This record gives sequence, structure tokens and C-alpha cells, in this order.
Amino acid sequence: MSDLSIELTAPNGRKYTQPTGLFINNEWVAGSKGNKITSINPTDESEITQVHAAEPEDVDKAVEAARAAFNNPTWRDMAPSERGDLMYKLSQLVVQNKEVLATIETWDNGKPYSVALNEDLAEVSGCLKYYAGYADKVHGQVIDTGPAKLAYTIREPLGVCGQIIPWNYPLGMAAWKLGPALACGNTIVMKAAEQTPLSILVFANLIKEAGFPPGVVNILNGHGKVAGAAIAQHLGIDKVAFTGSTATGREIMKMASVNLKNITLETGGKSPLIVFDDADMDQAVKWSHIGIMSNMGQICTATSRILVQEGIYDNFIEAFKKQVASTSKVGDPFAEETFQGPQVTKAQYEKVLSYIEAGKSEGATLAMGGEAYKNVGEGKGFFVSPTVFTNVKPSMRIFREEVFGPFVVILSFKDEEEALQKANDTTYGLGAAIFTKDIVRAHKLARKIEAGTLWINSRKPGQDSDFRIPFGGVKQSGIGRELGEAGLEAYTNKKAVHVNLGTWL
Ligand code: NAI
Ligand code: MG
Repeated sequence: MSDLSIELTAPNGRKYTQPTGLFINNEWVAGSKGNKITSINPTDESEITQVHAAEPEDVDKAVEAARAAFNNPTWRDMAPSERGDLMYKLSQLVVQNKEVLATIETWDNGKPYSVALNEDLAEVSGCLKYYAGYADKVHGQVIDTGPAKLAYTIREPLGVCGQIIPWNYPLGMAAWKLGPALACGNTIVMKAAEQTPLSILVFANLIKEAGFPPGVVNILNGHGKVAGAAIAQHLGIDKVAFTGSTATGREIMKMASVNLKNITLETGGKSPLIVFDDADMDQAVKWSHIGIMSNMGQICTATSRILVQEGIYDNFIEAFKKQVASTSKVGDPFAEETFQGPQVTKAQYEKVLSYIEAGKSEGATLAMGGEAYKNVGEGKGFFVSPTVFTNVKPSMRIFREEVFGPFVVILSFKDEEEALQKANDTTYGLGAAIFTKDIVRAHKLARKIEAGTLWINSRKPGQDSDFRIPFGGVKQSGIGRELGEAGLEAYTNKKAVHVNLGTWL
């Protein structure tokens, strides 16, 4: 069926074949109602192409394929080392195809090409390779209860896992979820975000090429409220893993209750970055700039609240503004010098602009930016000038709510106690950063700040969420952990086996 792929030429001249169907049972199929999702280039607002959108009936088909694959000895009884080989092969196919995959990420998402290639794609292949190594290291335990019993545990896969991912790191989020799920022997129905439907479909072809049996990984595009909701409430799905907004996470949690699904949620954040007056100012400024301004601020762990000790507050603001002016070059994401591309969609762009209005009307001081950026190409595209608000009060929406843009609030604090109070004054708890030379204070505060991850004297997305290290939130930033050895916990059950060796009735 010709309508299941299209030949495309990206803005950087790269030609490739873009699948447009649903990837079910290692085959490309059309959506059952003929509904489509339009992929938009956020740099110039042009339409790239359309892809099929999954309906609940299509989710049913994908779940059926995933269940059959889970029960098929080809996968179920595959030696774990062999499963690891397939995953390693997939990681290497990603390396071989990284330029085309990075091109699509930049075209569809708007992130700078050098970042997509050197950070996102390195993370995708690295994460798959890391978990490939775990496939034959998921062990049970023998538990000694005395000579009358042999008791042991088996780490079993959960079954069919639904995985719902966002658009800010389209392939990165896929790898974070596929790696541990596959290492543990699960099968998968993944739904990509409707804002970035393209790269995952090219990646799907690599899954087949790597040699995974049909039905082990099924990949759908579809609308959240349709296909996403169908996954979250499907009786044939054993687990749902989600990354996205806290509001949607809450909905998913409710829907998942229909069959008491195992859940992992990774949701929003409003992460603090605290700078004490003894910190290396130059380093604190550079890291805090990257911490909020990279990936157009569209990072769940973006350090979007900067708290600066009062003695250095004014100097910090001046230095931060200088750093933004000299580093945050806004432009075409395919251009080498670009640091900041467009926001991913019109909706996100408008959301950021609306928070600029909120900040102004709440009486904060707009210290920099605060407007749409129209100096790229012919003035189209979802670009926002990097925006800095000062004199912000904790009661303001711009202090409390996740903006998800190149948008930061900078507040001052008097002492450690006030820093801690302000840092924890949030419903979120994903990440937090501390800049100080006092290691005692840094480690003491690291325990007191309510967050899943603490960074001391650094904050760089990519470097500071590392697939070898557990990642996740406390409070309303999520449930469960991804990545690292902890990521495996989210994809296995421990079955207990009791063998009677000497208690006779
Ligand atoms: P979202 O949370 O609604 O979407 C994320 C994923 O969930 C997408 O695949 C979407 O199709 C799916 N989804 C949406 N509604 C669903 C439902 N009712 N049932 C099942 N699946 C559903 O986030 P959205 O609308 O893309 O962005 C809104 C805000 O969420 C952003 O401005 C940002 O604040 C936050 N966000 C946080 C992310 C993170 O990394 N933690 C990633 C993306 C967004
Ligand atoms: Mg797009």
C-alpha cells in the first residue's frame, strides 16, 4: 500500500523513506478509520507529511500482537543473552542511522541538529546498549530460611507494557522505556506523541531489521485522548509507563485502575537551582543558563527557578543576562551556530507567551526577552526570545507552574533555611541543583530538598540525566524510577517459589 510510506527530502537536503503507518506485528498497516495526524515543521510552520492515527480498534490489534508475542516461545523462551544480542544490534543500527534520525528530530521537533545528533542519538544508542548488557543479568535470589526449605525468587517480565511518550525527546524517551522493558523480556505497545510522530517510525524499521520477533515491539501514532486513553485502560495491558504532564499523568493513573495496572509516571517539574554566595559565579551562571535554556526549555527537569543568595543577586542577574545574550542564539535549528530553535508547536509557543503576560500582570520584573522572536527566515515559526523574570514572589503563577519554555524566574534568599523553604515550596519534586563550595552544606541540603535528583555544582541535561543513574520524581513529579538498575524494577515481578525439603505431615 503506497500510502504507508513517502519519500521525503529534509531541509538539510537529506532524502529518506518515511513510513507513515502503524507498526503492528512487524508490519506496516493503515489506521482503521483513515484518520491522520499532520506533522508540522515548527521552524516555518509548514506541513511535513501526514501519518496514520491509531483508533482504539488499532490499539486492540497491537495488544493482541504483543500478547501473542509474549506467549510465543520464540520470545518467551529466548535465552536472555540472545535477547541482549538483539538489543545490542538495535543500538548499533541506531548508530548507523543516527544522521537520518537526528535530521527527522530536528525537522519535526525543532531542536538544534548538533544536539539531536550528538546528545539525543548518543543517548538512544547508549541507553539501548546499556540495557542490552542487563538482559542476562536480571537474577532472582535464593533465600535461606533453614534446612527444611529451599526458597527462591524468579524475576519475571510483567507481560504487555503500554508506553506513552512525549515530544521533547521523541527517540530518547522511547529508548528509556524500551531498554529496561525489553531487557526483562516484556512486549510493548508504544504510543508516540502526536506533535512528533515521524522519527519513531523510521526507528521501528530498525527494530524489525535487528531481528526482534513480530509483536514484541508495536509502535503507534495516535491522539492522547483516543489511542493513549485506549492503552491506559486496556484490560489486555499489564503495565503503563508514561512521561508527560502531571494533569495527564493523573488521568492515566485513574484509567489504569480498571485492571490495577502497574504504573510508572514521570511528570512535570519546577526544579530549583540554588546559588550560594561562596559559589564559583562564572560556573554557576554557565550551568544555570544551560539548565533552563537548552532544548528550548522543554525539559521536565529544567531548572526553571533560580534562587540566588542576596549578596550576589544583582551581580548574578547581570552575568546571567550576559550569558543569555552571548550564548542563546535563536535561529534555524539546522544552522550550526543555533543554540535555540522554535518551541515544538503553536500550542506550546502560545503557552509560553501566555506565561510572559502572566508574569507582567502579576508584577514581576521582565529583565530580558518576553516576546515572540520573529527574526528567523520569513518571520514564521514558533520562536520565543529567551525570557528572564526577576523580583518574583512565590505566590506568582510563574513561580509555581511549569512553563516548559526558555523562561526562568530568579529570586533571592537570605540564608540556607530560606533557600530550602523556597526550593521545597512546590507541588513538584523532580530535580534540584546546588552551587556552593561548602561540601558539608551541599550534602546536608541534598538530603533535605524534596526531589528525585540532586545536582551539586552542575546542571546539564544529557550529562545530568544519565541512563546509568536512576531517574524520577517525588511529590507530583511522578511515581517509580526509570534508568539504571532501578529501571529494571519497573519491568519485573518477583515470583517466590517455596520447595519443601523436610517438613512432613
Ligand atoms: P501530555 O502529557 O498531554 O502528553 C504526553 C503524552 O501523553 C502524549 O503521547 C499524549 O498523546 C499522551 N496523552 C495525552 N492525553 C492523554 C490521555 N488522556 N490518555 C492517555 N495519553 C494521553 O502533554 P502535552 O499536552 O504534550 O504538553 C503539555 C505540558 O505537559 C507541557 O507544556 C509541559 O508542561 C508538560 N510536559 C512534560 C513533559 C515531561 O518531560 N515531563 C513532556 C511533555 C510535556
Ligand atoms: Mg512537528
